[in-house]
Amino acid sequence: MAILITGGAGYIGSHTCVQLISQGYKIVVVDSLSNSNIESLNRVSELTDTEFPFYNVNLLDPDSLERVFEENHIDSVIHFAGLKAVGESVLRPLDYYHNNLTGTFNLCKVMEKFHVKKIVFSSSATVYGNPKLVPIKEDAPLSATSPYGQTKLMTEQVLRDLFEADSGWSIALLRYFNPIGAHLSGRIGEDPTGIPNNLMPFISQVAIGKLDQLSIYGNDYATVDGTGVRDYIHVVDLAKGHIKALEHLMGTTGVEAFNLGTGKGYSVLQMVKAFEKATRTAITYSIAPRRPGDIAECYADSTKAKKVLGWVAEKEIEEMCRDTWRWQQRNPHGYKHDQVLT
Ligand code: UFG
Repeated sequence: MAILITGGAGYIGSHTCVQLISQGYKIVVVDSLSNSNIESLNRVSELTDTEFPFYNVNLLDPDSLERVFEENHIDSVIHFAGLKAVGESVLRPLDYYHNNLTGTFNLCKVMEKFHVKKIVFSSSATVYGNPKLVPIKEDAPLSATSPYGQTKLMTEQVLRDLFEADSGWSIALLRYFNPIGAHLSGRIGEDPTGIPNNLMPFISQVAIGKLDQLSIYGNDYATVDGTGVRDYIHVVDLAKGHIKALEHLMGTTGVEAFNLGTGKGYSVLQMVKAFEKATRTAITYSIAPRRPGDIAECYADSTKAKKVLGWVAEKEIEEMCRDTWRWQQRNPHGYKHDQVLT
């Protein structure tokens, strides 16, 4: 029996593959490689000394997906595949709704056909919209501030309805806070396309000289120092959360949401300082206007994940910064090693 990983070549997916294999699970990966690189999976194999089936399949192609289920004994799915850039989703809403929703519909239909009813879904703290209270608990009001956020919210609802219709399903909705860091080996990590949207890859590309300076989007929020506060979580801790969720699904049916965060908030300026300290580099920055759609503060109450899944985030901010930096230094161009730094 194997676990199907959709989007397994991506940032969180590849780290989860390593953890699953290390814990003795068999995996099958599907990925369209539209926003990821096959090299990440080569390195998963290298790190674990294990080969596994890979299918270059887009979830928008249900026939190819069916073949994956025909050729493998799949008993559960971890569903990462999807488009994920908030700003881009505002410009290309149809692509986001089509990819993220139709892709999930196709996946669930094929799962139903093959009587596979266990799924861990990559949701996001974005489903809390602009939270009124922090730390955020799972029962906080839900809303979306972008088409990307809507696709997460709508997918959660679809999966809840699926369970309502058939109580044989077992579903975990994992609401990620802000994943950063990389595998300790420095062999896999986050490889954004073009100029990074997210803070940590941006900082590390400034540190390595690919980008001139960081723009800090606003210093007039009602936070500790005026800059935005987020709950940064090490990607390896996050990956481990998926395994705990999967193990929980093995013995139960139902649909449950879990926050995966550390419960601690760091401001942008605190992150810049933490990165500088952990890596002994200097980050040039300037203050820029607020980024549209950004919120002041967002951090998790993850006590439910601790209680129900037996999961807690273990890694501190220094380790997150060091691991990000190791990956950036060893892979200045991400997985594309044929380019030179200019
Ligand atoms: N920031 C900057 N400069 C940058 C990039 C980010 O100042 O160049 C700031 C942002 O304003 C924010 C913080 O750094 O205060 C974190 O921004 P990120 O873009 O790294 O992350 P977000 O919290 O905006 O978004 C992330 C994911 C989303 C997800 C959301 C859930 O990218 O996919 O968390 O809370 F929906």
